[in-house]
Amino acid sequence: MEKIRVLFEEEEIVKRTKEIAEELYKAYGDEEVVFVCTLKGAVFFACDLLKAFKGDGRIEFLRVSSYEGESSTGKISLKLPLDAEKVYDKHVVIVEDIVDTGYTLEYICDYVNNMHPKSVVTCSLLDKKARRVVDVNPDYSGFVIDDLFVIGYGLDFDQKYRNLPYIGVVEK
Ligand code: IMP
Ligand code: MG
Repeated sequence: MEKIRVLFEEEEIVKRTKEIAEELYKAYGDEEVVFVCTLKGAVFFACDLLKAFKGDGRIEFLRVSSYEGESSTGKISLKLPLDAEKVYDKHVVIVEDIVDTGYTLEYICDYVNNMHPKSVVTCSLLDKKARRVVDVNPDYSGFVIDDLFVIGYGLDFDQKYRNLPYIGVVEK
């Protein structure tokens, strides 16, 4: 079994998620907000964010894939489309697990914007700022992290470790 170094305990993640949910509630009040969750990595974060959001929150899903192992290819493919009528003329919060090069978030923003929502903001649990290639930054982010490959709380390494309740780094 590999050794995992914990970066963020579950309590810290939940606390930070609640803070973001409050900021979002301050921004939207009781207007309808559609949280668009990017599968699979963002699923735990999106659910916790929605649970902590006191307003009129809805949830929709899409799935894209970009990563093979530990390296981003920049080639994004859509695996599960978003239902366009669910976001048309709505306030949308795109929920991501992590922004690395930025290719994925850029792709998702373009994809959602083409569906003519009322507004779009982006929200990522983690932000690996130092690795950015494309000029996109999440409007809301949980934690900025160093250039480390992280796993847990939805994030995987070749589909493994998503079920860990914390975020960590596999020690080689
Ligand atoms: P980007 O397109 O390079 O920004 O990569 C974004 C996607 O790559 C994320 O949504 C994740 O699914 C995956 N990813 C990037 N960094 C990590 C990591 O450290 N651990 C697990 N998945 C990652
Ligand atoms: Mg992702």
